[in-house]
Amino acid sequence: MKKILPVKHIGGSITVPGDKSIGHRAALLSLLAKEPITVINYPSGQDCQISLNAVQALGVKIEKLENHKVVLTSPEEIKADPELIIDCGNSGTTTRLLSGLIAGLPIEVILTGDKSLKSRPMKRIIDPLTEMGAELFSDEGHLPMRIRGNKLLPFEYRMPVASAQVKSSLLLAGLASGCSVTIREDTITRDHTELMIEELGGEINVRLIKAVLVDDPNDPRKRIMQMQEPFKKEIVLSSKTKISGGEIDIPGDISTAAFFMAAAAISGKSITINNLGLNKTRTAFFDYLKAIGSEINIENRQTVSGESRGDVTVTGGLLKPRKISGETTVGLIDEIPIVSVIAAFTPGTTIIRDAAELKIKESDRLTAAAENLKRMGIKCGLLEDGLAIEGGRDLSGADFVSYGDHRIAMAFSIASLFLVGPSTIDDETCVDISCPEFYDLLDKIAQ
Ligand code: S3P
Repeated sequence: MKKILPVKHIGGSITVPGDKSIGHRAALLSLLAKEPITVINYPSGQDCQISLNAVQALGVKIEKLENHKVVLTSPEEIKADPELIIDCGNSGTTTRLLSGLIAGLPIEVILTGDKSLKSRPMKRIIDPLTEMGAELFSDEGHLPMRIRGNKLLPFEYRMPVASAQVKSSLLLAGLASGCSVTIREDTITRDHTELMIEELGGEINVRLIKAVLVDDPNDPRKRIMQMQEPFKKEIVLSSKTKISGGEIDIPGDISTAAFFMAAAAISGKSITINNLGLNKTRTAFFDYLKAIGSEINIENRQTVSGESRGDVTVTGGLLKPRKISGETTVGLIDEIPIVSVIAAFTPGTTIIRDAAELKIKESDRLTAAAENLKRMGIKCGLLEDGLAIEGGRDLSGADFVSYGDHRIAMAFSIASLFLVGPSTIDDETCVDISCPEFYDLLDKIAQ
């Protein structure tokens, strides 16, 4: 149990661990890389360690050097005992991306995970991977799942759900099997897989669909904007795509930084996060902070290993509520727990919609957030696909429950800084999943 006292001073500058999404991809892609991949700033959390263990079980040699540097060398031939069981722990990203890799290789593997992971839906990858020609056996779409890889068929897929994990699973399946894959996204999701395949020398074409001015069919005097296609993005992986090795230098994780940035937004003070990832598919939280009254300044922008990064300073202002829905919710998918905490300190009502996906993350994050907000005296309505949060003042310290979910533990640790009297987080060790350094970093910016 972690006790957290109200904060007197907020400020300073920190760096956060490497981006978890990018880390998973570097580890998993190393299995297919012709040459070794050297990863700089490999994420320190348990989730990314699980991806390393997974590729090690399939033959990747892992050399851990100082300062979170790892060298990953693929085996001459990828082999697996058909009874091999890989435990994906709490990591949905490992499970879904690794399933794609296995599906496209001539191996058979069983994936399993912890209680939370066993309850999360896998049908979203089972269906398309089966259509491609792999065999996946599970108990109604839940782990444990046996995957029998195969020579897969060229595949075109219009994504029924906005999920970078599903998209990446299918791209990795195509890459592993040497078959072409075309993905069409109605809602753009994080693009680290596309960027890394390209960075490692693979052939992948990305087309962003634009709206163009056309004659209005209902009124010949008018012109209207119309999308050239019914979807927003098309990603084409060629059947000839192979990846070589190289260096992947990982920037700080924006989804971890979000907790500290929120502390600045709530307190009205400034915090700087150095060397932070600035990939456009991940920065919706910056736009949200600006919309609710914070200022964001970015210095030292550069692109390294295909991903942009910079030093980001957030200065909080007068908080104002903002409705979140549609594509904005998708862009904030991992940040909604901390958004709900900011909303608790924002005068007025914040509505969050189109967030049903949150119910099937590491915990049911809508219920977890609502329950904890109520514990600190906030009026919060649990909607079918979101939350309605009425901001309050002079809220009392509370005994929060993490539900074993790292992002819930971190979000309500930040809330605790601004409550009257002490608070507790029941099982704070789950922060290790994405940021074992979380409480040390918190001590640096909040005293
Ligand atoms: C991730 C994608 C998101 C996100 C998860 C990591 C990734 O999941 O919530 O934490 O690395 O691709 P979905 O793609 O399923 O929404």
